[in-house]
Amino acid sequence: MITLIQNIQELLQVRETSIAKVSGAEMAVLPTIKNAFLILEDNLISDFGSMENLPEIKADKIIDATGKVVLPSWCDSHTHIVYAGNREQEFVDRINGLSYEEIANRGGGILNSAKKLNETPEEEIYEQSKVRLEEVMHLGTGAVEIKSGYGLTVDGELKMLRVIKRLSENYPITIKATFLGAHAFPTHYKENKAGYLDEIINEMLPEIAKNKLADYVDVFCESGYFSVEQTEKIMEAGIAFGLKPKIHVNQFNSIGGIQAGIKFNALSVDHLEIMNPEDIEALKGSETMPVALPSCSYFLSIPYTPAREMIKAGLPVALATDFNPGSTPSGNMNFVVATACIKMKMTPEEAINAATINGAYAMGLSETHGSITKGKKANLILTKPISSYYQIPYAFGSNLIESVFIEGKILPNNNP
Ligand code: NIG
Ligand code: FE
Repeated sequence: MITLIQNIQELLQVRETSIAKVSGAEMAVLPTIKNAFLILEDNLISDFGSMENLPEIKADKIIDATGKVVLPSWCDSHTHIVYAGNREQEFVDRINGLSYEEIANRGGGILNSAKKLNETPEEEIYEQSKVRLEEVMHLGTGAVEIKSGYGLTVDGELKMLRVIKRLSENYPITIKATFLGAHAFPTHYKENKAGYLDEIINEMLPEIAKNKLADYVDVFCESGYFSVEQTEKIMEAGIAFGLKPKIHVNQFNSIGGIQAGIKFNALSVDHLEIMNPEDIEALKGSETMPVALPSCSYFLSIPYTPAREMIKAGLPVALATDFNPGSTPSGNMNFVVATACIKMKMTPEEAINAATINGAYAMGLSETHGSITKGKKANLILTKPISSYYQIPYAFGSNLIESVFIEGKILPNNNP
């Protein structure tokens, strides 16, 4: 099946040869072709160029994109899409003055979601989660990482990871699974933290590895959650089972999580709302991708990741949603890109690079996703007619997407 998209006003993120990521000053450069064509062969990108050079081909389907922009679909490298119920009550409690940490300290927060998750049948969790997955696909996400971490028991964690596996089997979007058993200490282990670490390392990890249920291992490295020492133990154990680390660090405090992540060659370190100069220094020269989650900063009213300083220091930055019931009940990458521009002062070019190729890197998917490159997946966003791609962050509350392609096929019912 050959699809030709022609007369594209502007084709974004065009890379002749595959690159892994963009860093520092390179992030300001978003290669594009104006008045372009794009040819898809089955599920892959097979050719692209300027309309002047359109080859004579027999296409099965021709789409006219006059006035419209085409770009690779968003790569959302950090989500907790699989969960049960919601935390609307805590949202209202926060409006009335309680902080996220105060709510967590009185048994709400992650433990609230863990209780709900363990009480909810697997089938029901799947049904609730697939609605969110379908929603983010229609919002232009073409590859997504999903974490466990609301089970906090052997059964609960396995249940979540099985749901993630089933989603990846039933949907065309690329999904990477991350084991986040170390998301919080369950109440019955409050006085026996070593006991929970033992359960993660000696019960959960072997079972997960045996059933090939995860690609990555994550830890919430934060004061009151997992210390740097505990984080290192879990990363080490995860690596022994073939899981590369991708960790939560520096959300509320800078306690050395970034340095620990780099030491264990983490694929990414995520959150980074609180960064000191040593943290930025530590990331220089590493292969670890720093991931910012601006929707979380927005929803919790906490600082935004200092992306400008990081880019100035030559670092790459990726953007992701953090979609979860507590700190970010939104999986909208368009809003993430807009918020990165509006609040973090990233340029549209930097934000689009961060949400495509650098997001792909943070999921180990740079070779197949994140740019318009021959042979990569035909996962694309076709916008409505817009004046320029600046509209994407500028018109921050509008849905500018006309259609989403996943594996070369248009998602049905995209126009509400
Ligand atoms: O990335 N910070 C840790 N984990 C999630 C929030 C979890 C929750 O509140 O349910 C996050 O923000
Ligand atoms: Fe998270």
